[in-house]
Amino acid sequence: MRFAGPIIGMPFSLEGFAFFTEAIFLGVYLYGWDRVSPRAHQWAGVAVAVSGAASGIFVVIANAWMNAPTGFEVVNGQVVNVHPIAAMANAAALPQTLHMTLAAYAATGFAVAGIHAFLLLKDPANAFHRRALEIALLVGAPAAVLQPLSGDLAARHLARHQPVKLAAAEALFTTQRGAPLTIGGLPDVATGETRFAIKIPYALSLLAFHDPQAEVKGLDAVPRELWPKVSAVHFSFDLMVGLGSYLALVALWAGWLAWRRGDLAHNRWLMRAIALATPMGFIAIEAGWMVTELGRQPWVIYGVMKTRDAVTPMPGLIVPFLTFTLLYCFLGVIVGWLLYRQILRSPDVPEWRGFYMPAGSREPGAASGG
Ligand code: HEM
Repeated sequence: MRFAGPIIGMPFSLEGFAFFTEAIFLGVYLYGWDRVSPRAHQWAGVAVAVSGAASGIFVVIANAWMNAPTGFEVVNGQVVNVHPIAAMANAAALPQTLHMTLAAYAATGFAVAGIHAFLLLKDPANAFHRRALEIALLVGAPAAVLQPLSGDLAARHLARHQPVKLAAAEALFTTQRGAPLTIGGLPDVATGETRFAIKIPYALSLLAFHDPQAEVKGLDAVPRELWPKVSAVHFSFDLMVGLGSYLALVALWAGWLAWRRGDLAHNRWLMRAIALATPMGFIAIEAGWMVTELGRQPWVIYGVMKTRDAVTPMPGLIVPFLTFTLLYCFLGVIVGWLLYRQILRSPDVPEWRGFYMPAGSREPGAASGG
């Protein structure tokens, strides 16, 4: 931050504004059900959604700058000609913010849908879970279908601006024309080969440059000491893409059934597939960040500063590190417990129907007499 603060501090401040806006309106939303008008309450919900997305976007812009640093010059070791807006408008900002925002909607939508699908397997007529599944899928499914497209945009950005990261993600050791797509396998840095992998000829050149003969830079484009940990990046990338493909296919399946006016909740295979997807979006998010962060190593600011030069020179760093790790584990357990309580308390059908459904409205549970 000492080096980069003046250049890329702005999106962090903006994130702070967005975060506090979110916190304020979340308070109004949670505690205002009976205290403000229904319209004001609804707008408070909209403000939470917009500011929540904005705070995510601002902090990812700061991360994107570490991948594609712009908006400054280094003269004699000093940072000069700082342009914070140019730094924010860096080349990685659009592909990364788009990809991460969709990832958030896909992961959250499918996590919520998965829990309701699991409960619908036991009670397919429950109106509360049927409605909740619909809402969760309306958020998660379009995002999951768009996610591979935004991933493609991100990968094409890598091919041009961070070729070493793409080479590691694809375990491509040598620069070549007509480069294949490498799925799975064990990359061996010593021999420069990836054993047991499935290779689709020309596919990487086609995906990265829309030309099957295009040249894709391999790891050999840079000296060995500038390689990231190839196997970790390749495995994370495959995991993200594999889970993303699953989510997109399930989303298309659910969309197709809904379009044909099918009864999603009574389709047990679909419910199982959605229930299985519950953690997948979040695992894909973690894998995605592994690709982005491990793939940039040994740089913390790509091409400008090495990670080893950015480490805080502080003795006993292990103590705050362990404290924060334990604190977050503790908070994680509490969140898990609260969510579990919330799920147990979900209303049964009569309560939902009597409380929320006006007489004569369409009742999803009615068909099966639930
Ligand atoms: C299905 C095909 C997918 C492709 C081709 C793809 C591609 C990529 C690429 C190339 C990156 C590196 C970007 C960079 O470092 O600049 C990335 C990062 C990332 N991916 Fe994916 N991805 C896919 C699916 C998913 C899914 C399903 C999720 C989560 C639900 C996800 C979450 C992430 C996250 C959180 C990052 C790091 C943040 C970012 O760069 O936006 N990805 N992905």
